[in-house]
Amino acid sequence: MDIRNLLVTGGCGFIGSNFIRHLLAKADFHGRIINADQLTYAGNPENLRGVEEAYPGRYLFRKADICDADLVREIFSHYEIDAVCHFAAESHVDRSILKPDCFIRTNILGTFNLLEAAKGRGSAFQLFHHVSTDEVFGSLGPVGAFTEETPYRPNSPYSASKASSDHLVRAYHETYGLPTTLSNCSNNYGPYQFPEKLIPLVVLNALEGKPLPVYGDGKNVRDWLYVEDHCEAIWTVMGKGRRGETYNVGGRAEMENIAIVEMICDLVDEFAPSSGAGPRRRLITFVKDRPGHDRRYAIDFGKLNGELGWTPAESFASGLRKTVQWYLDNKGWSERICSGEYQSWIKEQYGS
Ligand code: NAD
Ligand code: DAU
Repeated sequence: MDIRNLLVTGGCGFIGSNFIRHLLAKADFHGRIINADQLTYAGNPENLRGVEEAYPGRYLFRKADICDADLVREIFSHYEIDAVCHFAAESHVDRSILKPDCFIRTNILGTFNLLEAAKGRGSAFQLFHHVSTDEVFGSLGPVGAFTEETPYRPNSPYSASKASSDHLVRAYHETYGLPTTLSNCSNNYGPYQFPEKLIPLVVLNALEGKPLPVYGDGKNVRDWLYVEDHCEAIWTVMGKGRRGETYNVGGRAEMENIAIVEMICDLVDEFAPSSGAGPRRRLITFVKDRPGHDRRYAIDFGKLNGELGWTPAESFASGLRKTVQWYLDNKGWSERICSGEYQSWIKEQYGS
């Protein structure tokens, strides 16, 4: 596959911006990236500062809402798009519970518009890669792991909208022969993650001596993957994955939420000792549970490993250490995005 013009959607978000940096640094990608992002509260051009200058002629940004079908079609023809890596989405489960509308719009209608435009490029189009989530499979009991054969049972408006988009991608491959690949990944963490998600929220609150909100009994389990490993998995699937197939991606790092929060407290104590106030674990506060809170996720990524040779490079302990250090080294970044909109979200969600 020799991609000339790769459309990355949602490239100013957490994973999209890490992916663009990752891909431009690779020796086996020679094309140009067109980043189309609406710049919602979660999209931050600062995540890609310096990229245009570092890779002249190989990166450009278009502010665009993927729900605008005419604009999407214009982008595909103007830039002669021959492949897509689709990240753009509303991504936060708690927000989908309070206000599901934009999840339905962006995650379903937006994906449909992109698929239509890709189909319209005919034989010039090489690949549509859809970035999806393990949440489409629902919740697990104490044992077992999601495989590619696990039936879809989404439990939140977010995961239901992602499940719908997965089905559309599948349908465009089966019905129209569109060359597609799809990856369902577990929880990511790392640099540039918006601090509404568990890990960056806890790091920043711990630094500021604020309460660390843990939902329910804190024993919900997630599998965690360092974002750089996810980026490499996506590129592996795009390059070598069988068209029309889906691949599960995971970190082999199942953790209870409470254990993660305790690890973060200890790392923040180590890197930024608090003067006399006592260990950060004192800030842990159990709060009302998330409605429909999935109990446990675990990923069997044997297909991706066996067929394509991918495996995660980072352990959870080393990845979390790097991540906490990154937030400490980049306080200006989080100060700038913790805007008015972010403060009103915190008030609505946590009541203070
Ligand atoms: P994010 O919320 O950090 O970023 C989403 C990006 O999409 C933002 O830049 C935003 O501006 C953009 N966007 C939103 N609506 C748009 C629209 N209508 N048109 C154009 N751009 C729009 O999300 P993320 O955590 O980086 O997740 C990226 C993708 O990966 C999502 O599809 C998500 O479902 C999937 N995913 C995320 C995780 C995770 O742990 N974060 C795990 C598995 C899969
Ligand atoms: O599994 C992949 C999914 O991971 C992605 O598809 C989503 O886009 C991404 O947001 C993430 O979803 P989660 O709901 O698992 O992530 P979040 O960081 O919101 O929460 C992780 C766990 O921590 C979850 O069990 C809820 C809990 N939690 C979260 C927050 C924000 C708390 O206990 N307290 C909190 O304040």
